[in-house]
Amino acid sequence: MNTPHLPVLHDAVLELLDPKPGESYFDGTAGYGGHAASVLERIGKGRATLVDRDPDASRHVKQRFGDRVRPIQSDYVTATTDALEAGERYDMILLDLGVSSPQLDRPERGFSFRFDGPLDICRAPAYQAAARIRRDPVKSCRSAPRPQEHRWWR
Ligand SMILES: C[S@@+](CC[C@H](N)C(=O)[O-])C[C@H]1O[C@@H](n2cnc3c(N)ncnc32)[C@H](O)[C@@H]1O
Repeated sequence: MNTPHLPVLHDAVLELLDPKPGESYFDGTAGYGGHAASVLERIGKGRATLVDRDPDASRHVKQRFGDRVRPIQSDYVTATTDALEAGERYDMILLDLGVSSPQLDRPERGFSFRFDGPLDICRAPAYQAAARIRRDPVKSCRSAPRPQEHRWWR
C-alpha cells in the first residue's frame, strides 16, 4: 500500500524506541502509519493503539494494518486519558507532532501554503463549523465537540 507521508525522523525514532517482540505500542499521532509499520514488524504479536485526530489517517491505518492494530480517531489528550482510565499500560509511546503530507498537499484540508483553500487547522472535518472557524479558527478547534465516533472501538 502506498504511504502518502514519509516520516523524516523514522530511523532515529526507531533507534530510540528499540521495539522488541511482544512489546506494546501507543502512537498518539499515527498519521498514515509510517513509524507504526516498522514498530509492528518488530513487535510481532504485541498490541498497538494508533491514534490520530484526522479521520482520513485513521481510516488509512485501519485499512493498512487491519485487526493487527486498534485505530482511534481522536486527539491524543483524550485518547491517553481514556487509556489511563482504562488501566492500559504501554512499553512505547510516540508523539510525532505536526502535520502530515496529505494535509498540506490537499488545499481543502486547510493547511496548504502552496494552494488557495479555506483556513481550517482543526484536522478533523467533523470539528468544522465553517462560520465559527472563519471568525476564529484557533478557538473554534479548541472548543469543538468531540466527534461521536471517537469511542467506536470500545
Ligand atoms: C508528522 S504527522 C505524524 C506522522 C506519523 N508519525 C507517521 O509515522 O507517518 C502528525 C500527525 O499528527 C496528527 N495530529 C496533530 N495534532 C493532533 C492531536 N491533537 N491529536 C491527535 N493527532 C494529532 C496529524 O493529523 C498528523 O497526522
